[in-house]
Amino acid sequence: MIRFGVCSLEDLYANRLSDAFGKEKNISIELYEELFHNDAPSASEYQEIVLSRFKCGQVFKRTHLQRFSEFDTATLSAVQKQFRQARNELLAVHDLAASDGRTSLELYHQLINLFNDGFSFLATDVLPWVYSVGKPSERLRVITDDGGRTMEIVYPPFVFNLARQESKFYWINKVLVKRLQKEAATLSALFVQRSSEVRARKISLIHKKCRELSERGGNFSFEQYNVLEPINRRFDMVRAMNILNPGYFNQREISRILESVFSSLRAGGLFVTGSNEGRESGVEGGIYLRAEAGFHLLFASGSGSCVHEAIARFNR
Ligand SMILES: C[S@@+](CC[C@H](N)C(=O)[O-])C[C@H]1O[C@@H](n2cnc3c(N)ncnc32)[C@H](O)[C@@H]1O
Repeated sequence: MIRFGVCSLEDLYANRLSDAFGKEKNISIELYEELFHNDAPSASEYQEIVLSRFKCGQVFKRTHLQRFSEFDTATLSAVQKQFRQARNELLAVHDLAASDGRTSLELYHQLINLFNDGFSFLATDVLPWVYSVGKPSERLRVITDDGGRTMEIVYPPFVFNLARQESKFYWINKVLVKRLQKEAATLSALFVQRSSEVRARKISLIHKKCRELSERGGNFSFEQYNVLEPINRRFDMVRAMNILNPGYFNQREISRILESVFSSLRAGGLFVTGSNEGRESGVEGGIYLRAEAGFHLLFASGSGSCVHEAIARFNR
């Protein structure tokens, strides 16, 4: 059997997103950028659909507006309680693994209601952009990160996401992707060498409103950051939503992430973390106080964070 992907806005708008057997099609991440240049009010919602199918390693870029409504209310109430006293310094907030930053924006706007411009907000993600690389007038394109790691192969009308195992049922796809992989690797290598044989188009995966805010040079910025790396800055609140998951990171990596969250938080700061799935699903998470030597749970939502044990055990 054969399964095409979604490579054009026309197919996306026509909702041709599953095949005849009901199996979801891969959607080219290139469409995220095309939607950026589209002024239709629904463009942002279509971007959510594009992100929802884009997998890199174990992690999806999936995100959507109003994802944490009730949990955001609990976060805001903890922030208010913890930082209600007048401060000389700006309150510093870091929202990590923010995908395109649309959920960061929601928190940012709620913080404006509390602190006006008395805070700074940093949203980060390991993959805020990718590149579409191909040779002029050739059909094959690869989607890579800065280092040339290929994530997707676009060969219209096919889209192959390399983080997903193709089922044997779609044997034509399996054969084709195997054949294309060598050529794709050559394109990635040429991209890394900055060769003039290939054209690389940068695809920003940052939400339009986040880009506008960052460009204004005010108190909102968006940067690239890998949670596995230490960060040499201090915050009063760090939020990590839909990233601290044993399915994405092993125990050692989770300890490493907790170590860098801990060191980047001032004593008395807040660590907010949790996970949820689709639109209607509640957050399983927690809000923790960063104490001198570890984290203390202040609030739990649902059955709590899926890495609560590791957070509670953490000891500096
Ligand atoms: C499921 S999305 C969560 C987005 C947003 N926080 C939310 O909950 O809607 C996970 C995000 O984590 C990012 N990510 C994956 N590995 C990461 C890492 N090592 N460091 C930083 N971000 C990472 C992915 O690029 C993706 O945007």
